[in-house]
Amino acid sequence: MLKMEKVTKSFGKVQALDGVDLHVQPGEIYGFIGPNGAGKTTAIRVLMGFIRPDSGHCTIFGRNVWKEAVQIHQRVAYVPGDVNLWPNLTGGEVIDLFLRLQSQKDVKARDYWMERFDLDPTKKCRTYSKGNRQKVALVAAFAQEADLYILDEPTSGLDPLMEKVFQEGLRERKKEGKSVLLSSHILSEVEKLCDRVSIIRRGKIIETGSMKELRHLTHMDVHVRTLQPLPDQFGSAYITDLREEEGEIRLRIDSAQIGRLMEEITPYGIESLQCMPPTLETLFMRHYQEEG
Ligand SMILES: Nc1ncnc2c1ncn2[C@@H]1O[C@H](COP(=O)(O)OP(=O)(O)OP(=O)(O)O)[C@@H](O)[C@H]1O
Ligand SMILES: [Mg+2]
Repeated sequence: MLKMEKVTKSFGKVQALDGVDLHVQPGEIYGFIGPNGAGKTTAIRVLMGFIRPDSGHCTIFGRNVWKEAVQIHQRVAYVPGDVNLWPNLTGGEVIDLFLRLQSQKDVKARDYWMERFDLDPTKKCRTYSKGNRQKVALVAAFAQEADLYILDEPTSGLDPLMEKVFQEGLRERKKEGKSVLLSSHILSEVEKLCDRVSIIRRGKIIETGSMKELRHLTHMDVHVRTLQPLPDQFGSAYITDLREEEGEIRLRIDSAQIGRLMEEITPYGIESLQCMPPTLETLFMRHYQEEG
């Protein structure tokens, strides 16, 4: 669906992209995360054919993103990071303009999404709040019949209720077999929605995989209560960080050791047990802490 290979781009001395690879498969929601200035927007602008990379190769639907942008954009819905709209048009006019550019005449989807996002389309764009500007862009994107949705931090200004509408919208698209590239800072959102994730830092992809694969690389936190107390040296070979807190044992293990832990702990009579895989946030933080 989307392929980015060994793409580099620098702005003067700043190397914004340094050999970036991204592959989005059909029907997949792909998360693109990284700190401020990591290169997410630059990568997306290259994919949209707005800027030309210094080197590397990008295709969408098998077509060259730079040379065949017009054809590609007919089947791509895009929401930019900073939504700037024509100040003197109303939200409704802007949405209609976008849909006309896509030669789309069906207004049912437009009205449906306007209602779901609770958007007043009669106001002039200059009077909209940041969240409402974002809603205009999202309604235009969701109302569009596209095969690929490229969304650059589309929910940074939305309230939790609207965030939920957005997530439902994305899941509906996925059910229809559409593909999504979603850049986001909201890790819980990425965790909930995305099939695969790439983490970018300083223009380089430092980790790619499904949530399951990424989690596998790390630890798991376990909270357990046992009927009989555990012996002093319990699991010292593979448990890190064992402590007693709030009447329960809290410990951390390598994810691969969970079977061994269960076997060894069962004879002590498990009263309650909670296993918590790392959240995307802990995975993310780990990368930043490693950097020191
Ligand atoms: N037009 C430009 N001219 C000069 N430098 C630029 C330009 N666009 C981006 N950069 C630089 O490239 C780097 C990557 O920026 P980019 O906007 O892609 O980051 P980002 O990951 O989208 O960050 P954020 O999460 O804050 O949106 C930054 O160092 C930025 O300052
Ligand atoms: Mg950005």
